[in-house]
Amino acid sequence: MSNLIISELNDGVLSLGLNRPERKNALTPELYVELADALFAAAENSQVNVVVLHGSDEVFCAGNDIDNFAANPDADGERPSRYFMRALSGLMKPVVAAVNGPAVGIGATMLLHCDFVYAGQNAQLIFPFVKLGLCPEFASSLLLVSRLGYQRAAELLLLCEPCDAQRALRLGLVNDVLAVEAVLPHARKVAARLASQSAQALQTSKSLMREGLAQACQQQIEKETEAFTRLLDSPEAKAAFEAFLKRRKAAA
Ligand code: COA
Repeated sequence: MSNLIISELNDGVLSLGLNRPERKNALTPELYVELADALFAAAENSQVNVVVLHGSDEVFCAGNDIDNFAANPDADGERPSRYFMRALSGLMKPVVAAVNGPAVGIGATMLLHCDFVYAGQNAQLIFPFVKLGLCPEFASSLLLVSRLGYQRAAELLLLCEPCDAQRALRLGLVNDVLAVEAVLPHARKVAARLASQSAQALQTSKSLMREGLAQACQQQIEKETEAFTRLLDSPEAKAAFEAFLKRRKAAA
């Protein structure tokens, strides 16, 4: 096991902390697989009733690692990002996210699949796909429209407007906004409350709440994945990745 995830189990609450600070917790194939394996194991482990997902006080997750997008756009088999999202969206134990700083791309998308999201005052949700020549993934094109209404979703997905913590609260994308240092303790407190309830009742209730949109989400994910894979190969996306990597070289 690498140190890319900090994992702690206390009284039925499994905390999974992204720990790749030098790259703002950007997700590599290795990190996706570790997270997915931890979530699939949590589903099977009767000692785990609730999962808390968190980053650091500075950043939640900078999305897919762009070096990796650029280097390996069309690997065969199930993409690691898809394996991770299958683990997260299929977990019927509650997931509480603690978000400070930027949550970008899949870092923001994954929050739509969590049950509770607590945000620090410095949190920002950013869906930059169109700016990068890409399109939304993992049912975000369905879930954002159904939760926010088309017009608000268009601001986030077509204009790629960053959504700060207060706006996310107004839009109903997060449960509450707290001081940065209070976010993770609060998420753990909510998780402890959940963990003290009947595990069976919680999981059954979550399944029922998710069931209504599950099939539509799955169908949307298939369409999004096909479109995303096609767009990854487009000159616009390639130019966007190159520009990002060039900025880094220029700064070095
Ligand atoms: N993939 C690979 N490297 C990334 C990354 C990503 N998604 N996000 C950040 N990094 C790297 C930066 O290149 C930089 O590397 P360097 O120190 O070698 O120069 C390092 O992480 C720190 O990032 P930096 O941009 O300097 O931090 P910041 O605090 O100013 O900004 C973000 C943080 C997350 C807002 C900004 O890094 C960002 O927008 N990242 C890209 C997000 C993105 O588009 N993700 C893909 C979505 S599909």
